[in-house]
Amino acid sequence: MTDMLLFDGGLLTRATTLAYLAAGLLFILALASLSKHETAKRGNTFGAVGMFIALVATIALALGSEPGQGVLVTFLLIALAMGIGGAIGTVLAKRVEMTGMPELIAMLHSFVGLAAVLVGFNSYIAPDATAHALGTFHLGEIFLGIFIGAVTFTGSIVAYLKLSAKISGKPLTLPARNWLNLAALLVSLVLMVVFMRTEEGSVISWVALLAMTVIALLLGLHLVAAIGGGDMPVVVSMLNSYSGWAAAAAGFMLNNDLLIITGALVGSSGAYLSWIMCKAMNRAFVSVILGGFGSDSSAAAGGDEEEGTIDEVDAAAVAALLSEARRVVITPGYGMAVAQAQYPVATLTEKLREKGVEVQFGIHPVAGRLPGHMNVLLAEAKVPYDIVLEMDEINDDFPEVDVVLVIGANDTVNPAAEEPGSPIAGMPVLTVWESGKVIVFKRSMATGYAGVQNPLFFKENTSMLFGDAKGSVEAIIQAL
Ligand code: TAP
Repeated sequence: MTDMLLFDGGLLTRATTLAYLAAGLLFILALASLSKHETAKRGNTFGAVGMFIALVATIALALGSEPGQGVLVTFLLIALAMGIGGAIGTVLAKRVEMTGMPELIAMLHSFVGLAAVLVGFNSYIAPDATAHALGTFHLGEIFLGIFIGAVTFTGSIVAYLKLSAKISGKPLTLPARNWLNLAALLVSLVLMVVFMRTEEGSVISWVALLAMTVIALLLGLHLVAAIGGGDMPVVVSMLNSYSGWAAAAAGFMLNNDLLIITGALVGSSGAYLSWIMCKAMNRAFVSVILGGFGSDSSAAAGGDEEEGTIDEVDAAAVAALLSEARRVVITPGYGMAVAQAQYPVATLTEKLREKGVEVQFGIHPVAGRLPGHMNVLLAEAKVPYDIVLEMDEINDDFPEVDVVLVIGANDTVNPAAEEPGSPIAGMPVLTVWESGKVIVFKRSMATGYAGVQNPLFFKENTSMLFGDAKGSVEAIIQAL
């Protein structure tokens, strides 16, 4: 049967189409399941099975279309590439901290971009027969694929460098930067027309293709360099979307339906996620893309001028306060991830619930450094899903809450967002100050990611518990 599949081209193509269809469906199921805590694990399994089927089918197709001695060489090359890639991927995935995920993702997006550029050039130099038969249309695919891939490639590298603080997070605001971007787009469009209308392989067509590649590489650099710290989450998901479109473009060039489906799924879900995040930060999507907003995250400590007096408490006092509370809400942020405080936080939750205190979590959509960052950490520490609420579900309840524990969060609980003129003005925040008492867990008076001072720390009903969040929560558990 295997022999028949391998050497009967028609049957193999049909079997591959079926396998691709199954993989495409599994990817859609994976995305649908990943949107809820309860089904996320199942979603991952769907995705992994889909990818396995896709890989087997693609390898079978590659081997089947290479009869004779070529089969072994092709197989060895594929095995080598997968072995090296798999080994690097495993090491990276094992090594990366949850807080380092955004930069890892940004770096991975750059690979998708680079792959699309390479596939594009390969497709021009040695086109697939079916794709080549499409003539000018295929040239358009190549041009667009390389353009999107190049923008994704350099944009993702800048995002990686910014997120890992290897370069400043400050937006690069060149004079007339929007005009520069527009000019890059228009020149690329003209080059595309030249490329599609001149003879294939001619000097002019090569010049047009290479000139566009350089322009697209620079455009990617400039687009992301112009975006400031606070907007980086949107940029990561936007690049995710670009990488999807780059993959879809590669799918067209390689005449691979599954790559087109998968690319379109990634492209549209990334765009949708960017839109959701913009809504959560009250930013217009277009203004995020155009850049120039946000401040330098690494300059965060510099922006903390005094705004009044603060009240400092110790763990024992917080434990006493919690024992008397009826309803407690925990709003975690990036600091909980840095301190890896989710495990003691889960233990504290369990202890308080045993004492009859109602405990809930309020999760801001951009808390941490990754969409769903807090949900993943809390799920890892086995906090029950039903007490983990979204910002919109809990925000109206704060006046009825006795104590709010702000654990390593800052921007997401900043009342300055309600004041016009603040760099984070208009960003919806968790209105924790409306509760009876707020305890802020952090190590210093430093500002958060957006570099904006937080008036919450100086409010009458706020007390500061200074120290590493993990140590502070453990001390409270001890005192309880
Ligand atoms: P942030 O505003 O970044 O504040 C985190 C706070 O945690 C800091 O003020 C820091 O203060 C404290 N902290 C750090 N390490 C700590 C530790 N070991 N123990 C105790 N506290 C610690 O966090 P947030 O409220 O979660 O807001 C997220 C911000 O990141 C937003 O501005 C958002 O736009 C941005 N962002 C979000 C994403 C996504 S998609 N979620 C991605 C990129 C950027 P100390 O230094 O004084 O301890």
